[in-house]
Amino acid sequence: MSDLTILAVETSCDDTSAAVLNGAHDVVGHVIATQDMHAEFGGVVPEVASRAQLRVIDTVVGQTLEQAGLSLDDIDAFAVTAGPGLIGSLLVGVNWVKAVAYALGRPFIGVHHMEAHLFASVLEDERAQPPFVALLVSGGHTLLLHVRDWGRYRLLGQTRDDAAGEAFDKVARLLGLGYPGGPAIERLAREGDAARHPFPVPMVRTGQIEESDDYYDMSFSGLKTAVLMRVRELEKEGGLDREVSHLSAAFQRAVVEQLAEKTMRAVRSTGCQRVVLGGGVARNKALAERIKGRVGRTGLVFVPSPRLATDNAAMVARAASFRLGRGERSGLALNARADLPMPGVV
Ligand code: KG4
Ligand code: ZN
Repeated sequence: MSDLTILAVETSCDDTSAAVLNGAHDVVGHVIATQDMHAEFGGVVPEVASRAQLRVIDTVVGQTLEQAGLSLDDIDAFAVTAGPGLIGSLLVGVNWVKAVAYALGRPFIGVHHMEAHLFASVLEDERAQPPFVALLVSGGHTLLLHVRDWGRYRLLGQTRDDAAGEAFDKVARLLGLGYPGGPAIERLAREGDAARHPFPVPMVRTGQIEESDDYYDMSFSGLKTAVLMRVRELEKEGGLDREVSHLSAAFQRAVVEQLAEKTMRAVRSTGCQRVVLGGGVARNKALAERIKGRVGRTGLVFVPSPRLATDNAAMVARAASFRLGRGERSGLALNARADLPMPGVV
């Protein structure tokens, strides 16, 4: 890792965040501005998101530097999420960092958003080091990785349709719970009885072996459709309102069981004792508890604190510290890419 003072910017979706990292661990400034205007649309409106990024980025960076007690001149290197994400939003951060780094004559680096999620846990617990199994569950991606070393990733499985967070958001909308859906479903699920709606756990069947192509992969859209069918029936019968918490619990249970089972398969086949969770869905306590319970006392499960699980610039700075420490730099040709492939996947 590098011992530089890094200023990182994250604008890949609907949050605007900046962080200053001193060395590998010391987050001396960190601000996350969350856009709340998307709730009324039931999801993120890309055009609205990128305009909002542009409005607040200077303020967010200014507040971060103030927290750190530093000025732009004290920054050794800059970092920015270059993708994947919403292109308009990404461009705001990428152009801001390129312009400022160029003006100051400092190095800068573009970071992959999902690689950054991998680094959230190690900011808080130095033991969250490879080799480990990583389950990254966000609004746009669902990845199961064997992290042999930083920068060396084997993709074991991924979602075949919706991302886990997207499924929470879509089901929340079906149930009239607003955006983002994850926190609302988790809250209601605590009061609900999952057994009232026994949805099957997707992508888990007897007879699956490691060579089966669905052994590690995940899926959420069939489950979402199953919830939709149930909602339609209940609407006809006039009993939807009193079933919302039970449907939330049943949906969450099926998601959690699927994610925990796939993670355990990776733990068994890789022999890894450590599991690292990341992404917004890692805020879900039922998921974290289930995985901890299944891993048992012999293993260690690292769950980032809620602020570091969802999108934030501290994790981007930490990933940048690794890449800059290896001597990597981006040039002015760096561009934002909505579909940026993850580096180091073998
Ligand atoms: O990682 P993230 O902040 O943004 C992306 O990179 O996509 O993840 C956002 C996602 C949303 O879909 C949101 O509903 C979900 O994380 N989420 C949750 C919870 N908190 C946020 N899902 C389940 N349970 C939660 N408590
Ligand atoms: Zn994310």
